[in-house]
Amino acid sequence: MVKNILVIHGPNLNLLGEREPGIYGEASIDSLNSSIIDRAKEQGLKCEIFQSNHEGAIIDKLHAAREKFDGVIINAGAYTHYSYAIRDAIAAIKIPCIEVHISNVFARDEFRAKSVIAPVCKGSICGFGFGSYYLAVQAMAEL
Ligand code: DQA
Repeated sequence: MVKNILVIHGPNLNLLGEREPGIYGEASIDSLNSSIIDRAKEQGLKCEIFQSNHEGAIIDKLHAAREKFDGVIINAGAYTHYSYAIRDAIAAIKIPCIEVHISNVFARDEFRAKSVIAPVCKGSICGFGFGSYYLAVQAMAEL
């Protein structure tokens, strides 16, 4: 059976390419998304991608995912560091979630070293640029 995965990009990731290019690179979210879809296809996965700057919209999408998807890859952006509501939504749905970050969150501001969602995720990948998402797609295929 083909696995169906959901990729969630959280706040400010819509500005990839413009936003702090020294940290997040110069490529747009559209080019990231098409590479994610290509990688997912290579791994035999079906993939939907969603971006929102709103905590509640991300929570609603996570809830809906429990009936539709086999797994979620989430870059929760800054919500990673303080959103207990997103953490609880991930804990509530019984499908595996993989946390990703483009940058190495441990090598930056102190507040970024803490992820409140990490304990309820299957695993976390950070610091590989867009490669963090591709590694997560591969991990999802192997789960
Ligand atoms: C990020 C890291 C977060 O600390 C930051 O708030 C982001 C992007 C990353 O992908 O490196 O918005 O999740």
